[in-house]
Amino acid sequence: MNQKHPLSLLSSGKLLVSPSVLAADFADLGHEIHKIQEAGADMVHLDVMDAHFVPNLSIGPGLIACLRKHTELPFDVHLMMTDPLNYIEAFSKAGADHITFHVECSSDIQKTIQAIHSCGCSAGITLKPGTSVETLLPWLPQIELVLVMTVEPGFGGQSFMPEQLKKVEFLHHYFKQQTFAFHRPHIQVDGGLGEENVRQAARAGANCIVAGTSVFRSPHGTATAVEILHAAQEELAR
Ligand code: DX5
Ligand code: ZN
Repeated sequence: MNQKHPLSLLSSGKLLVSPSVLAADFADLGHEIHKIQEAGADMVHLDVMDAHFVPNLSIGPGLIACLRKHTELPFDVHLMMTDPLNYIEAFSKAGADHITFHVECSSDIQKTIQAIHSCGCSAGITLKPGTSVETLLPWLPQIELVLVMTVEPGFGGQSFMPEQLKKVEFLHHYFKQQTFAFHRPHIQVDGGLGEENVRQAARAGANCIVAGTSVFRSPHGTATAVEILHAAQEELAR
């Protein structure tokens, strides 16, 4: 099994960029991943959709295993699945370094977090725009990342929902007040992120930016697109 790079090894004091391959050319994914690695991406965001939890079907462990040999970058796997607990081991064996799942799923949350950690991966929890951030509170001391969805999960290329940044602000202040063991979870945002809103997200407290369309379909090219996102580092809320 590949050496794991859990996100707990990455500082939450640095703005991290995790391009979502959902917007990439699926017929040329190995090359697309080389491009974002060359561009300085910090990890690769892999969106898994089961056509049940969300009305779309994307990739599975088989494809992720094929992509593993193309980069050493951490694989940031976002499971949009009804029953993620049943698939944790498969995605870990395929090469996931980090696994985020939805609090709205049908799996036992505690068992799913434990299963992710027992595979050597870091764990993330996420919520849909319509779910209140308070539902995450019981799990926050156990996870390494919280993903605040800024679109309805299921498709790339949607419009950013700025009101979701209130959840980011809440989490940022909550983490500053709490003394969680020895780590402060990453706060990740995902959906419609790009040049026009990444600084606003960083100011709210997000230190990890998922971006698909604005990276893989940027008129400026991938390298410039990632550079623009990283430049929001100077806005990072302390
Ligand atoms: C949506 C996915 C996102 C999406 C981001 O359900 O979780 O990761 O691919 O793509 P853009 O940046 O195009 O909104
Ligand atoms: Zn995603």
